[in-house]
Amino acid sequence: METVLADPWHFPRPALAEAYLAMFDLKLTSARGLFARRRMGKTEFLCRDLLPAAAKQGYLVAYTNLWDNRAAPDSALVSALAMALKPQGVQALLAKFRAPVKRVRASASIPGGVEGGFEAELTSAAVEGVLALQDVLAQLDRQKQPLLLAIDEAQVLASAEHSDFSHALRSALDIRKDRIKVIFAGSSETTLRDMFARPLEPFYNWAALEPFPLLGAEFVSFTTELANSMARMPLSLDYAHRAFDELHRTPEFFKRFIERYMLYQMEGEAAALAHTKASVFSDGHFLKQWNNLLPADQAVLSLLVHGESDLYAAPAQAKLSSLLRQAVTKNTVSHALRRLQAANVVTRLALGEYRLEDETFAEWVRRR
Ligand SMILES: Nc1ncnc2c1ncn2[C@@H]1O[C@H](COP(=O)(O)OP(=O)(O)OP(=O)(O)O)[C@@H](O)[C@H]1O
Ligand SMILES: [Mg+2]
Repeated sequence: METVLADPWHFPRPALAEAYLAMFDLKLTSARGLFARRRMGKTEFLCRDLLPAAAKQGYLVAYTNLWDNRAAPDSALVSALAMALKPQGVQALLAKFRAPVKRVRASASIPGGVEGGFEAELTSAAVEGVLALQDVLAQLDRQKQPLLLAIDEAQVLASAEHSDFSHALRSALDIRKDRIKVIFAGSSETTLRDMFARPLEPFYNWAALEPFPLLGAEFVSFTTELANSMARMPLSLDYAHRAFDELHRTPEFFKRFIERYMLYQMEGEAAALAHTKASVFSDGHFLKQWNNLLPADQAVLSLLVHGESDLYAAPAQAKLSSLLRQAVTKNTVSHALRRLQAANVVTRLALGEYRLEDETFAEWVRRR
């Protein structure tokens, strides 16, 4: 894991970190999944609390964010594991990970022309991922220390194209349960649930999934007191708590409020909150995100945020047709939904039931 610079604004959560480590110490479970809405502090907890605490207790630690590497979660995971080892191991591993792909590709016979060739490439890349994983795990097996692996945005592993690697990962971790502990994190409860609850999925029944405990009053007091130690005009604690509520109890937005307040103290707390709400809930980046969507995708989102969950039913189709001013088929809907899911905008709750992943974006769409 990269070294994390000290951040005075980080509200430490040692007790929560201890609780996870104590649970692993019991040895009844070796994997846990945690989920919470976007921007609630999952990544910050993993990188600034849990992994440093684990390292202090003698674990090797590895962190990877699969969303940043969603095209190649296998190499992301393998390099995170390699980095947990001694640095000299890393170069050798990375070299190995890249080199043989060409070899296998060249030697694969290509029966069906272009299409077959593409397939052969995919499979050989998958094989390489699995081999590299076995390599790095073999190196880890020789270490005395146990390993804590944090897989952030783990839902990427649930996608069908990574299924071979996910199966290999699961069985490799399974036989090392006593030495390798795993934390899965993600913002989509359903996708994570699917990962662990479906018999055909690689991680079926493997990790208990639980909500990530959210930041609350103590975080607000901590941040406000720290701000006040530097402010010329102190911010009232009561007002800070109110602001936190009005910002949907989202730590990231609360910190934007504090920053705004600190920079424009003369304008007062109410002005800072108004500014933050305006920027958070009618943010230019939502407009950009919206403008980048195809009209069909926008129409589908509009229906979703207004509570229309069965998009394939006749009333929904009629509304979509009128929004798009042309006849809409089930195909239009399913293509839109597929694009929106691939872009992490929408998540599937159950068969035929969808929801926006980011509640703040949903509110923005609703306000349009
Ligand atoms: N313990 C904390 N102390 C101080 N600030 C925090 C803490 N946790 C989160 N934050 C603030 O909230 C922001 C969002 O946190 P983080 O990126 O960890 O959320 P997340 O749940 O991983 O979100 P996403 O699902 O979008 O990845 C951080 O950049 C930070 O400003
Ligand atoms: Mg995160």
